[in-house]
Amino acid sequence: MTTTSMTNPVRFRLMMFMLCLVSHVVNGEQEMRCHPKEREALLQFKAAAVDHYGMLSSWTTPHCCQWQGIRCSNLTAHILSLHLPTGYISGEIHESLMELSLLEYLNLSSNYFGYEKIPDFLGSLRNLKYLDLA
Ligand SMILES: *[C@@H]1O[C@H](CO)[C@@H](O)[C@H](O)[C@H]1NC(C)=O
Ligand SMILES: *[C@@H]1O[C@H](CO)[C@@H](O)[C@H](O)[C@H]1NC(C)=O
Repeated sequence: MTTTSMTNPVRFRLMMFMLCLVSHVVNGEQEMRCHPKEREALLQFKAAAVDHYGMLSSWTTPHCCQWQGIRCSNLTAHILSLHLPTGYISGEIHESLMELSLLEYLNLSSNYFGYEKIPDFLGSLRNLKYLDLA
């Protein structure tokens, strides 16, 4: 019985898939790596911002999902949320944030970005559900 089910290629592949899935979920927290393109976009955002109080000082390590204010999908590692209502960041909101195409939540409230209107490029974030630039 075991032998036949193991030699059945479909079942075998299904089983391997389940094993991968389980080990992925179990190790998910350590293995979580952000997408290099999204990490690069965050670093551009950081470079354009004025951060005198070091609110973005954790933004240096390879694992950008662990950075202050960042939350990623546990399954895809895409950045879902950018939450930085710190009150201490100013300068420019760099349009590199457009690269975070799966972003659902963006909260930069109470900072000093000094815009008279919402920057146009934020309109290209199709998955955005919450935007707070108050
Ligand atoms: C991802 O996993 C962490 C820790 O298990 C959990 O706190 C968080 O809510 C999860 N995030 C999502 C988007 O499911
Ligand atoms: C943004 O963050 C501030 C401070 O934590 C909070 O009061 C506000 O409700 C948040 N905005 C949204 C849209 O979640």
